Amino acid sequence: EEALSEIAALPKVELHLHLEGAAPPSFIRGLAAEKRVDLSGIFRPDGTYAFEGFRHFLQVYEAATGVLRSPEDYARLVRAVMEQSAEEGVVYSETFLSPDFCGGGDVDAWRDYLAAMVEAAEAGERDLGVTLRGVVTCVRHFGPERAKAAARCAAETAGEWITGFGMGGDENAYEQKDFAWSFDCAREAGLRLTTHAGEWRGPEEVRAALDHLGCERIGHGVRAIEDPALVERIAEDGIVLETCPGSNVALGVYPTLEAHPIGKLRERGVTVTVSTDDPPFFHTTMREEYRRLARVHDWDAEAFRDLARISLNAAFCDAATRERVA
Ligand code: HPA
Ligand code: ZN
Repeated sequence: EEALSEIAALPKVELHLHLEGAAPPSFIRGLAAEKRVDLSGIFRPDGTYAFEGFRHFLQVYEAATGVLRSPEDYARLVRAVMEQSAEEGVVYSETFLSPDFCGGGDVDAWRDYLAAMVEAAEAGERDLGVTLRGVVTCVRHFGPERAKAAARCAAETAGEWITGFGMGGDENAYEQKDFAWSFDCAREAGLRLTTHAGEWRGPEEVRAALDHLGCERIGHGVRAIEDPALVERIAEDGIVLETCPGSNVALGVYPTLEAHPIGKLRERGVTVTVSTDDPPFFHTTMREEYRRLARVHDWDAEAFRDLARISLNAAFCDAATRERVA
């Protein structure tokens, strides 16, 4: 137990966190009350988010996001999320941001939202000691045309703070290659690339993400384990998996943490990192992820220190930021 407390208290680096998905339910309820929006349908009596399965999760997520309507709302959200991260011992966090929810893909509106978020992140860094960076994501089930608008927003604001471009949403909608234009646009703007793959569909999705989109990180990617040749390839090429074990168990991708392939992937030389995805939705936190993994695997404190080093190395920020955080 002492070893577990030591492990849970270690400094952490999180690479896969959806900003709206990290919103505490109380924060969303507060905004809903201010704006007189009835969101009672998305909460359980105990105040937690209510959903059954992944599709419904996405619907509840989008309903909650609907009360975030201004740059100021997003600035408050950034602060609330950074406070949580600080409590969890997170020192660096890469957060998925969607222009679709921040101005609907309009570049000028996106600039206003982003400016408010960056200002909140800078204040949060001073007060809380957490460094935040943004990865712009398009939403797969919104389709390739809207993804182009998100990519243009990303390209227009690429720099020290917006470090990457990626895709979330429903993996069963469209194909990775349908989004190649958007990923090319982001790459040409100097952005680093990641996409959700190999969570709801199998290893062929991970291959498509590498072959058609040129991603160097994969959101989840865990079902690569079903194809040994692919596991070898991602290990050799240093492709980084942003695994979110608690999320996978909460949504039923794997029945238990014991059944989750993170240990096997790591043993086969794959670069794995650990994140929470949408922590209040999946009843997890970074400390909780560390505690559960330490219970199931025989990873000692040094293994978790290694995990943080590997994760920081896989971060999309510049070298100066990495050195400052380390
Ligand atoms: N997975 C995929 N898309 C998402 C998620 C997620 O956990 N959260 C918000 N969009
Ligand atoms: Zn995700």
